[in-house]
Amino acid sequence: MAHRSWFPEVLNGTDVVLRRHVPGNIRAFQRWYADPDVVRLTRYQDGPMRPDEIERFFVARALGSDSLAMAIHLRDGDRLIGTCALSQLDSDNGSALFHITIGEKDAWGRGHGTEATRLMIDHAFGGLGLHRIGLSVFSFNERAIRSYRSCGFVVEGRAREAIWRDGRWWDEIAMSILDSDWAASRARRPGPARIADDASVSADASLSAADDEREETAIGAGGGPLGGRR
Ligand SMILES: CC(C)(COP(=O)(O)OP(=O)(O)OC[C@H]1O[C@@H](n2cnc3c(N)ncnc32)[C@H](O)[C@@H]1OP(=O)(O)O)[C@@H](O)C(=O)NCCC(=O)NCCS
Repeated sequence: MAHRSWFPEVLNGTDVVLRRHVPGNIRAFQRWYADPDVVRLTRYQDGPMRPDEIERFFVARALGSDSLAMAIHLRDGDRLIGTCALSQLDSDNGSALFHITIGEKDAWGRGHGTEATRLMIDHAFGGLGLHRIGLSVFSFNERAIRSYRSCGFVVEGRAREAIWRDGRWWDEIAMSILDSDWAASRARRPGPARIADDASVSADASLSAADDEREETAIGAGGGPLGGRR
């Protein structure tokens, strides 16, 4: 994998630490994305991903240059609990899409996903100099919506009845956060801002490097929970 100066080695939080993915993380992906409870919340298709689909997804999205993906570890004991990513980094418009999956179900509802989201947003705006981050979330995923709201995302639209799940239709909700939202919420946040360890990389250089890589590799369409409809 090419060295990417815009890509942080580590983002340190209070309870979680985000690190670049390593090849061995494929084993966790194989468990997470075969779990019906996880894919119900993250996948457009109804049903788990096949092992070969998970492998392709891992190689492209976690190890590859399609996205800025980070593994989510608990600081205490270093357990790997999930993954998060910014995809479709776009320097012309200063935008990206955000995706997160805490794959270990016993780690849901403990604030770890919310903290990881804050770390990624801090890096995106404070380190990369992005202007806007968007995401999509299914309307039945109340925990995710509450988490995103608490990180500063606002609802900007909905695709009505876009998802068939559990025997009925649900909306797909579009949310976003702008750098101005982030700056305002950061001013209200107690304690020092937590941004990328390599924040010395200039925003312009960071973005154009990301963009160069984007052009070298086709990025899948869509910005849904898993980063595209498969
Ligand atoms: C969505 C996710 C990132 C949220 O991270 P998290 O750390 O588990 O969330 P938190 O513990 O901070 O909880 C967020 C909010 O949801 C609430 N919540 C927790 N469990 C809940 C539940 N079962 N139902 C509804 N709300 C719930 C919390 O009280 C909190 O609300 P508050 O901000 O008003 O206090 C994480 O749970 C996850 O990855 N889930 C599986 C995959 C997924 O849904 N990915 C997102 C796809 S768009």
